[in-house]
Amino acid sequence: MSTIPHANHAPPRQSVPPHPQWPLLTAAEKDDYKQRIRALLQQQNACLVAHYYTDGDLQELAEDTGGCVADSLEMARFGTRSAATTLVVCGVRFMGETAKILNPEKRVLMPDLAATCSLDESCPAADFRAFCDQFPDHQVVVYANTSAEVKARADWVVTSSIALPIVKALHSQGQPMIWAPDKHLGHYIQTQTGATMRLWDGACVVHEEFKGFALERVRRLHPEAAVLVHPESPQEVVEQADVVGSTTQLIQAVTTLPHSTFIVATDTGIFWKMQQQAPEKTLIAAPTAGIGATCESCAHCPWMAMNALQNLEQVLRTGDQEIHIDPVIRDQAVIPIQRMLEFARTQLS
Ligand code: 13P
Ligand code: SF4
Repeated sequence: MSTIPHANHAPPRQSVPPHPQWPLLTAAEKDDYKQRIRALLQQQNACLVAHYYTDGDLQELAEDTGGCVADSLEMARFGTRSAATTLVVCGVRFMGETAKILNPEKRVLMPDLAATCSLDESCPAADFRAFCDQFPDHQVVVYANTSAEVKARADWVVTSSIALPIVKALHSQGQPMIWAPDKHLGHYIQTQTGATMRLWDGACVVHEEFKGFALERVRRLHPEAAVLVHPESPQEVVEQADVVGSTTQLIQAVTTLPHSTFIVATDTGIFWKMQQQAPEKTLIAAPTAGIGATCESCAHCPWMAMNALQNLEQVLRTGDQEIHIDPVIRDQAVIPIQRMLEFARTQLS
């Protein structure tokens, strides 16, 4: 196997915002917001496209109103199938941008356009283009967690649920690859496929906090538990997994595996759906503190936490958080995204 060390590129680590301090709502206030949001969705022929990491109230509302709650691949697909003329993406900015790139004729809103992603932030488009230019014979594979401009420079866009088969296919054709931006996911795929990949040096601030040593100790306390790990986690955590997969694949594991207890190494927002699908199972959050940890993280994405009933209702009233993409960038970025969707349709079904 020929592996190439990580690109010697260390983009500045951006500052992570504190979780938004939304006022806590009483049950009656929540119901009131939900009622108003339902009415606004109907009036505007709009639907909610939510990620599993968002607040349970938003996930419930998305399901009850004919929208979807999904991983980033399915969020992209759902938007193209939906008859709604407005998509309200509850998640982070790259998810809204992907929806707009695939559906330029639709209005795409988000509760807060400032909801970014540490992976997206770690990969400025100009630096990335310069990096790619050094390896003109490499296929450029980028994770969906990137800006429209970065996607516009890619040959392939992938999400965590489809990265492995796509890289396998490219590797079988003898293609060397550039991979960006998540070094942990890239390393995992490299070890699984033996592909030649030049890795960008980005990481998810949420998953990087899971600690291998602390996980070992929790596993000793719960030897009966299956360990579920999102591949954005560090190698020493991934190596302890019974299942490594995208958010959807981890939820499926909870419902299909015979285990009654699971240790889950991903954003805790996913527990709402896991518990809904398998209420009888016990879920334990993987540890984020331990030797090497500076503090205990809450394992919840600060940008996903920007989505709330309050700003969802507001954006439906005002329409002020709308995604716009430069048409030239859009026309380039749509190509590698469509390539991924076509691969999923023809190779994985
Ligand atoms: P999924 O595609 O698995 O939903 O992951 C998206 C993400 O941002 C995980 O941190
Ligand atoms: Fe990005 Fe990590 Fe948040 Fe996912 S959990 S959106 S990868 S910062």
